Amino acid sequence: MTREHWGSRLGFILAAAGSAVGLGNVWKFPYLVGQNGGAAFVVTYLVLVLTIGATGMLAEMAIGRAAQKNPVGAFAVLKGGLWPVTGYLGVICGFLILGFYSVIGGWTIAYTVKMVDGTLTAPGLDFAAIFSGFVADPLEPLVYHAVFMALTVGVVLKGVSAGIERWNKILMPTLLVLLVVLIGRAVTLDGAMAGVEFYLKPDFSKINADVVLAALSQAFFSLSIGMGAMITYGSYLTRDQNLPRSTVMVIGLDTGVAILAGLIVMPAVFAFGVTPGAGPGLTFITLPGVFQQMPGGTVFGAGFFLLLLFAALTSSVSLLEVPVAYLIDELKVSRRTAVLVLGGIAFLIGIPSSLSLGIWADFKVFGLPFLDLLDFITSKLIMPVGGLLMCLFAGWVVWPVMRREATNDGSVPFALLPVWNWLLKVVAPAAIAWILIQGLIG
Ligand code: PFF
Repeated sequence: MTREHWGSRLGFILAAAGSAVGLGNVWKFPYLVGQNGGAAFVVTYLVLVLTIGATGMLAEMAIGRAAQKNPVGAFAVLKGGLWPVTGYLGVICGFLILGFYSVIGGWTIAYTVKMVDGTLTAPGLDFAAIFSGFVADPLEPLVYHAVFMALTVGVVLKGVSAGIERWNKILMPTLLVLLVVLIGRAVTLDGAMAGVEFYLKPDFSKINADVVLAALSQAFFSLSIGMGAMITYGSYLTRDQNLPRSTVMVIGLDTGVAILAGLIVMPAVFAFGVTPGAGPGLTFITLPGVFQQMPGGTVFGAGFFLLLLFAALTSSVSLLEVPVAYLIDELKVSRRTAVLVLGGIAFLIGIPSSLSLGIWADFKVFGLPFLDLLDFITSKLIMPVGGLLMCLFAGWVVWPVMRREATNDGSVPFALLPVWNWLLKVVAPAAIAWILIQGLIG
């Protein structure tokens, strides 16, 4: 069977950006900013994205296109030995992330519904209480989790270009427009300027090992790197794509959306007197308040959560595609069987994730509730370690292949080639190792 490929160059960029832009930008980034000292975190994050993030993203795309395989198969055909272990780590990681991502994805469906049915629009509501009541409910979030997983399964069943590519083209631009409109409202709220300052004026004394590790793991999570998603998407690429340029575009879009999302949430946090460090509910607690204070807020609110749902879907689809591609390539399973079985198991993993915010909150493993545990294992352990291994692999083991991929056999100039090589071989691995050691043990 010939391998499926993207329908166009733009199709790949939008799909890769669709994978990167998701809940990580709108749900996770703002609350991490709030928990980790504001602008100092933002600056740390940007530095890490532009160095380690860009290095890793280009490496993954190049590995994937060179091998034309899922992450496990890619390391096997390019080198073999123990290297495919890196691919297995990624396959498992994609699966574990999906197990909680789908729960949060379900929240976006719930909030779309709640905007429309009036739950979030009556005057004088306590949005923090509404949020904690909702996530702690033993049943309601699970129903939405099931719907979100079913949607993900539906798209991945359709395959690469018909399913994944088509939607991204329409939805990504619409989301950007809506974000800009919402910033206009958020920054003009009474008291919003304190939030703008918190967000944009760095106090560098806030930076410590925990903050740097949080920024590093968020860079991996947000860019969808370190677990083979970009290897998988790169494997559906043909030779004419300019990979360094694609990297710049995907990183630009992803970082742009995160920064815009923060510029909505942070001013609202201060205007409404919410604690910046309130945690994973931050976006869901503050945004309904913003909608309430704008004309046509119900429509904007419902539209916003709907678009966030689509952004989340284009990411969850890439999460599921990683293990699915592995099963199809390596175990010769049909796409249909692979998608249904893996989607089913990921749904089951989501159940304890969701319940860990309510009735199972006291059940902890290594001191963490189940959802936090999955988040910790994936973004603070597997992705940085996976990224470190991929950089070493690209820089030391298959550098001639990487050079060929990044320059399309020498036909497109890539001035930063020597810098990239040095980042791959030394700077990125050393920095990741140091940040992990300081943040986890130090
Ligand atoms: N990048 C996605 C987000 O920011 O929401 C999450 C994600 C998708 C992580 C795909 C990893 C991945 F492979």
